[in-house]
Amino acid sequence: MTIYLDHHSTTPVDPRVLDAMLPYFTEKFGNPGSVHALGEEARDAVERARATIARGIGAEPGEIVFTSGATESNNLAIRGVAERRRRRGDHLVSVRTEHPAVLDPLQRWAEQGFEVTLLDVERHGSPRAGWLDPDQVAAALRDDTCLVSVMLANNEIGVVQPLAQIAAISKARGVLLHCDATQGVGKLPVNVAELGVDLMSFTAHKLHGPKGVGALYVRRRDPVVRLAPQIAGGGQEQGRRSGTLNVPGIVGLAEAVGLATENLAAEVEQLSKLRNRLAEGILKAVPNAVLVGPKLDAKSEDGDPLRLPNNLNLMFPGVDGEALMLAMPELAVSSGAACSSTSDEPSHVLLALGLSADEARSCLRFGVGRFNTADEIDRAVAMVAAAVDKVRKLAE
Ligand SMILES: Cc1ncc(COP(=O)(O)O)c(C=O)c1O
Repeated sequence: MTIYLDHHSTTPVDPRVLDAMLPYFTEKFGNPGSVHALGEEARDAVERARATIARGIGAEPGEIVFTSGATESNNLAIRGVAERRRRRGDHLVSVRTEHPAVLDPLQRWAEQGFEVTLLDVERHGSPRAGWLDPDQVAAALRDDTCLVSVMLANNEIGVVQPLAQIAAISKARGVLLHCDATQGVGKLPVNVAELGVDLMSFTAHKLHGPKGVGALYVRRRDPVVRLAPQIAGGGQEQGRRSGTLNVPGIVGLAEAVGLATENLAAEVEQLSKLRNRLAEGILKAVPNAVLVGPKLDAKSEDGDPLRLPNNLNLMFPGVDGEALMLAMPELAVSSGAACSSTSDEPSHVLLALGLSADEARSCLRFGVGRFNTADEIDRAVAMVAAAVDKVRKLAE
């Protein structure tokens, strides 16, 4: 049986989430746009889900727009806001370590004449490696900046960015702030009022919900954020995103958010225990393994964790990460060679930390999840130690 330690990539659906979803595939299959009773039943389910999700992140129900996942949410935020606010200016600010679902839409704007500033992060070796200094944001903002986009937590090195400080800086300049919170929801306390963000993306499949459904929080008060819709059609979601709603998916997203937020403290404790066990085990068993990203116990000035509780990224100098993965077929992790299995480019996140391409290729990312056990962690440590040993010997 594969030991799954790749929870930044996706997660298994929690059985409680599946149970909540199932009736909406069969007997409760109505289209929420229909007037009849089946439609009303589906509409009620969607609105209950919207309320649960809004409560989970400290928003109003009307501020939640359902999408097909965080990629679409990021596109809707970045493309939708910039299109509406182009008159104000065409300067966009983000960070080198963002997910491609942010960087790519920004790149498309750059091709259409927008100016995009990508900020640097703290380098490898710093206890806060990967962290964005809010002063950098302050220095980058201009009168013609129309949007800042900063992720809450990084999907490769788990670094948590100082969103509340960045929000205060952006707000003072009248600039909207989008946050890709995909990896943060369910692992960190996420409250849009406390974070001060204007738009926030997240997705169900990273928190034991189904794939293909997510949401975008769009602030409706102080200020009202207006978006140019990117998918036109039947006018669902108050015209912000057309298309028949994915009712089972939305019900699943709400259940997943509800479970994750209700049990957050206990889950964070469990995940960090398992992650620390994994880190200590590998660092002890494997000579020369190096931690990549912020220190596991690094804290912000306010005492908040600077790293996701479930994330670990390790470099095995001189050992190719892909070769390591092939040497341990029963362990599911990701290598620093790629952000997708179709590319063997070194990760742009690891390069942004100042690692060389070879160093980036010798990194492995581990993400522990709700259903992992201490026994699995111990077996994973043994697998990694044996695989590094094997690959190093083959290279001799
Ligand atoms: C930080 C981040 N943003 C966006 C995405 C894309 O999410 P989705 O798969 O829901 O489109 C991911 C998933 O890999 C991610 O980790």
